[in-house]
Amino acid sequence: MTGLSDFEIVLTPLDEPALARLLAAAVDGAEPHEVMPPVDGPPGWTPGRRAAFLAFHRRRSLDPDTAIETTWLVEVDGRAAGAARLQPVLGGSAIEVEAGVWLGRWARGRGIGKRVAEVLLESARDGGATRFIASTTVDNTAARRLLRGTGAELDVHGAEVDARLEL
Ligand SMILES: CC(C)(COP(=O)(O)OP(=O)(O)OC[C@H]1O[C@@H](n2cnc3c(N)ncnc32)[C@H](O)[C@@H]1OP(=O)(O)O)[C@@H](O)C(=O)NCCC(=O)NCCS
Repeated sequence: MTGLSDFEIVLTPLDEPALARLLAAAVDGAEPHEVMPPVDGPPGWTPGRRAAFLAFHRRRSLDPDTAIETTWLVEVDGRAAGAARLQPVLGGSAIEVEAGVWLGRWARGRGIGKRVAEVLLESARDGGATRFIASTTVDNTAARRLLRGTGAELDVHGAEVDARLEL
């Protein structure tokens, strides 16, 4: 998938070579807690966290026996910048998909997240989803503004923010 902007933004479905590039982008430009569930141990990209990052994506996206979501490597002008994901979830009568995005520090605050969100919305609609949801935290201003910009309703409860957009 390709998005229009000043940058060439390409979303490539994750495979093993893309996963290796994604890990390198995460290590280079993101904190572990921004891109993966917590792993015990000293701070930073320890060997254990790198292995857990790979296992996380293999389990959730690459292994056909366990996959629950589609993940894309986000490339900006050919450089691995981060990840985007769509996960079908149970939403009552709605066909609901949960979205997530992270970008490396160098790619943040340049309108790239907004373009990626548009591509994810288009993909969700094309896939027949009728509701788009995402979560973030109150202190994540960029993510909150990004979600509000899609037209989603934001529900704040404590430190958490849930976004919901009927498609
Ligand atoms: C959240 C994230 C995906 C947003 O993508 P981005 O490319 O940085 O955001 P954009 O440049 O497209 O900007 C989106 C909106 O956030 C605002 N914004 C961007 N960076 C901001 C910052 N540091 N502080 C305040 N607002 C900010 C923009 O002004 C824009 O709002 P507007 O449309 O009302 O003007 C990205 O910052 C990121 O990966 N952060 C770290 C990981 C993360 O938090 N992921 C989301 C978890 S829910």
